[in-house]
Amino acid sequence: MIDLQPVKGTRDFFPDEMRLRNWLFEVWRRVSEQAGFEEYDTCVLEHEELYIRKAGDEISKQLYSFEDKGGRRLSLRPEMTPSLARLVLKHTKSLSFPIKWFSMPQCFRYERMTKGRRREHFQWNADIIGQPDMVAEAEILMLLISACESMGLTANDIRVFINDRRILNAILSQLNVALDLHSAVLVIMDKRDKISPEDLGKMLEEVGMSSSQVQQLNEYLSKSDLQELKDSLQDTEGIDELQHLLQLMDTAGYRDYLQFDISIVRGLSYYTGAVFEVNSPDKQHRAICGGGRYDSLLSTYGGETIPAVGFGFGDVVVLDVLKELERFPELPRTLDYTIIPFDTEQVGVALKIGAELRLKGATVDCNFGMKKMKKSLQQANESGAKFAILLFPEELSQDKVVIRDMQLREQKPINITDLITSAEQTV
Ligand code: HAM
Repeated sequence: MIDLQPVKGTRDFFPDEMRLRNWLFEVWRRVSEQAGFEEYDTCVLEHEELYIRKAGDEISKQLYSFEDKGGRRLSLRPEMTPSLARLVLKHTKSLSFPIKWFSMPQCFRYERMTKGRRREHFQWNADIIGQPDMVAEAEILMLLISACESMGLTANDIRVFINDRRILNAILSQLNVALDLHSAVLVIMDKRDKISPEDLGKMLEEVGMSSSQVQQLNEYLSKSDLQELKDSLQDTEGIDELQHLLQLMDTAGYRDYLQFDISIVRGLSYYTGAVFEVNSPDKQHRAICGGGRYDSLLSTYGGETIPAVGFGFGDVVVLDVLKELERFPELPRTLDYTIIPFDTEQVGVALKIGAELRLKGATVDCNFGMKKMKKSLQQANESGAKFAILLFPEELSQDKVVIRDMQLREQKPINITDLITSAEQTV
């Protein structure tokens, strides 16, 4: 017997789970389109070099990479942003900026498996490229919040924890940490929740910070009040911009969702401005969603500098959250009709009636199991059919079938032409 388990960390989607996944995708797609975002896609295979970054991002170590028969180093995509950057760079001249694009890619990361982290996940991405002002952040945040609201989550259930990399850079500059160390330091700081303060300190010293710089950094990071932090910094650009964004979100009516959090750094080295993560207010989960501004990613690939901001919102954690809150949507299987022939003689007629009903827009299944009528009706019930159409020789000889209302458990003969005509009102 072959191994029936899916590859470790990957998932099978049985029809029930597929309905849930489709529901989530529909929410993502609907809110994106409502906000004027256009959908794009790329291949799951990319050149490995797209994901290799100097700062030592975790993601570069989690690649599913291989060499193809032509000797190319390829990777399954761990995230969508580099592919998006590639598309934009390829067509910079013909695009009319700012562009607002979204996608729902499947991503692969060789992760240590913990709750909320798999080796394969789907990740809704929405990005605005070519808009340098904080209004892009406001639009992006409102989009992800509207998706959460569409799923029944409110400001009591989720919070957007937000920070700005420029604030962290200002702190590091104030501590005289050399500019070229900032990216590597930030990647390490992102591990704050996962490793002990001693180990974190050691890692920071290994990349070149002194122990007194590490100690002063920890003092800054204990400040939770934006104004207090502002008063202690010379470079206040990051704080000013963040305050502007909070004000915009206040005017738009979404301020309740946002909380300044100096500990949000994010593990990807390409972020340059606002950085945010969505979680439950008590941060009980892995991030539901994460994103930020990455104004220099495109230039690191050799293109011009084009401002960009966006997020990735995975399917795993949000479904865990909805399940815990008992907010899963009811998604029963539904069908308009199940056609049940009495025996093999009526199979051809069943196929014909099925085709005509489908032309009217109905969803129609035929039950060719040739089981006892009671069993076939039970199966029709399980499939969520509103009506069963029973094909008996006697009624068929008069161009009629028997239609059964599955809920009322009532049935009556009906002319086949009337059945087809009435299908439009039923659907
Ligand atoms: P990220 O924080 O690495 O950012 O991932 C974004 C989201 O994808 C996470 O918050 C989580 O919901 C989901 N996710 C990531 N890894 C896994 C995993 N192993 N299992 C399940 N879910 C996962 C990015 O990927 C950025 N490229 C997002 C972005 C787009 N930034 C700007 N634009």
